[in-house]
Amino acid sequence: MAGTDPALGRAMPADSGSIAVRLFPWYTRNGRHHLPWRHTDDDYALWLAEIMLQQTRVETALDYYRRFLEKFPAWKNLASASLDEVLALWSGLGYYARARNAHMASKLVITDWNGLFPDTLESAMLLPGVGRSTAAAVLASAYGQSQAILDANARRVLFRVHGLQGNPRAPAQEKTLWRLAEQETPNPAHDYNQAIQDLGALVCLSRRPKCTVCPLMGICRGSQGTAGKIFPQVSSGPEKQRRPKRYGIFLLVMDGKGKVFLERRPEQGVWGGLWCLPMIYEEAILPTPEDLAERADLIAQRFGAVLGAGEILSFRQHVFSHFILEFAILPAFLPAELQVSDHLSHGRLWALGEARDLGLPSPIRRILEGL
Ligand code: ADE
Repeated sequence: MAGTDPALGRAMPADSGSIAVRLFPWYTRNGRHHLPWRHTDDDYALWLAEIMLQQTRVETALDYYRRFLEKFPAWKNLASASLDEVLALWSGLGYYARARNAHMASKLVITDWNGLFPDTLESAMLLPGVGRSTAAAVLASAYGQSQAILDANARRVLFRVHGLQGNPRAPAQEKTLWRLAEQETPNPAHDYNQAIQDLGALVCLSRRPKCTVCPLMGICRGSQGTAGKIFPQVSSGPEKQRRPKRYGIFLLVMDGKGKVFLERRPEQGVWGGLWCLPMIYEEAILPTPEDLAERADLIAQRFGAVLGAGEILSFRQHVFSHFILEFAILPAFLPAELQVSDHLSHGRLWALGEARDLGLPSPIRRILEGL
């Protein structure tokens, strides 16, 4: 059981399982037992949940998860879908590489793994989008294996309980944290893994942790004495920096039949693989009238389109993880047939009804819905 910290004269965690024994009664009473992935042992459903939760809060992911499972209830359904269908359903959830990787992973599970999530850590981590913690979470939940996780929540809890110092995401901490995670994780691991995530999400918050109601208060070095002022402030990631601003202009080219021109964005970079209005300006500074005049020429050449009399629609904001995009929409009218050129090979005209079923970035979806 717990030893004593000579400096503080208080109990401190020492041996395996000192977190689990305290966590389980708390989890029984306070855990998020309603979450749908807590009521299945289906490897596909569990993998999907972990992928969606990688960069998305539970509350946001829930609706997407239900809709996704309804449309693609098993590996084979996802594997046989088109990328556009997958991106359309993922639209708005962000971090679209996850959707592309998930689609690819489902194909590999069908072709190489007999339609089942691979059953070892090493083989599971060969799937695109599956890192060690995601693989471990699925193996523990689907196959009852004793696998430790180290997602952002588990990382924060372990970091504080064990009184580590510095940046919890620094590579140097990685080995220590994994060792502690393995040491603390009981067999079977499933309930413990869920419980530590709930503690991180509900009590051991990144900012303003609720130490007074924490079941680990007696053993947590982060809640004791002066350390209480330091560790509880530790965030799960690097210091949040102010996000730089970028300015963008999207071109809204429509033809006489109300069709809109969309082009598929390159796989690398933001909104990778999604259908988008052509972006004709993206810089760290606001466009000048000269910039716009130059672009107008370009548009005329590229589309044979004429700029609308209404000119620029007002700037709106979209917040990405690393920058804020302030963007405006420049309407243009396509008086005749679209001139097909090499430049247009990634784009085409879509009826608005069809465009709604594509994978669209959420701000672009909102614009199209407003037309
Ligand atoms: N975040 C990552 N995996 C999770 C899970 N299984 N439950 C709640 N939050 C999570």
